[in-house]
Amino acid sequence: MILIDGKETSQRIKEEIKVEVEAILAQGDRAPHLVAILVGNDGASETYVGNKIRTCKEVGFESTLLRFDDSMKESELIKVIKDLNEDEGVDGFIVQLPLPKHINVHHITAAIDPAKDVDGFHPVNLGRMVEELPTYLPATPKGIMQLLERYNIETSGKHCVVIGRSNIVGTPISILLSRNTNPGNCTVTLTHSRTSNLKEICLQADIIIAAIGVPYFIKADMVKDGAVVIDVGMTRVQAPELKSGFRLAGDVDFKNVAEKCSYITPVPGGVGPMTIIGLLQNTLLSAQHRIYPAHVKQ
Ligand code: GUN
Repeated sequence: MILIDGKETSQRIKEEIKVEVEAILAQGDRAPHLVAILVGNDGASETYVGNKIRTCKEVGFESTLLRFDDSMKESELIKVIKDLNEDEGVDGFIVQLPLPKHINVHHITAAIDPAKDVDGFHPVNLGRMVEELPTYLPATPKGIMQLLERYNIETSGKHCVVIGRSNIVGTPISILLSRNTNPGNCTVTLTHSRTSNLKEICLQADIIIAAIGVPYFIKADMVKDGAVVIDVGMTRVQAPELKSGFRLAGDVDFKNVAEKCSYITPVPGGVGPMTIIGLLQNTLLSAQHRIYPAHVKQ
């Protein structure tokens, strides 16, 4: 079994990003600038956004965290987004999800200028992904694709079972892995909460991508010998013995599943750090105007 080390891989990519930032600065341009918007005080979101901001600093990006109370109105958030769309000192921004229930996520995503949508969630960017045009790929699928690539994991002709159909992970990774690319060229089965005989389907998988958010859901008897298992889960479970009071749990029962796998990602230290890398890479692409020409609104 080979452990896919997302932490180490992300460190290497961070060094590559730093070199690009130095080149930008050497040309006399300003550092790439990412803004993160956090509405409310969901503990997990606070941690994720904090990690994103911290990693920006590590690679020499400028970063700004805008925090708002969960009583914020949808119209107020849209006003903040419109201002960021116009702000030439900002290359990209994200609105951390989930949002409070009274805010419609589709209205928010649609308000973001696609050229600054470094999460890749805007319908224009998702459409460009489907059409295989240059775009910002959603950060988690982008990170997973890079892990598969950097570990030289054969995907062509393989049966990939994706568990979870979210717009953030399950749906986009299914599209990316089924395309005629490398990594890619998989036969993809997209499964979800209404899938019957999930165990039988998983047992046919050469590659499992678990993105359901249910701790330890994938058990050893659902995994065939030699499978590649990518664990996207990151749920906080209570752990009174730890100072923080919680631990991060993946969707995979790692202790029992790992020995059956050819490759597996741990939690933490697998997909998580690569999600941040995907976001930084998209911000860099924006700063370099590699996806959309400068100052042209879509
Ligand atoms: N919540 C969970 N994952 C993500 C992500 O990739 N981007 C944003 N904005 N919110 C999230």
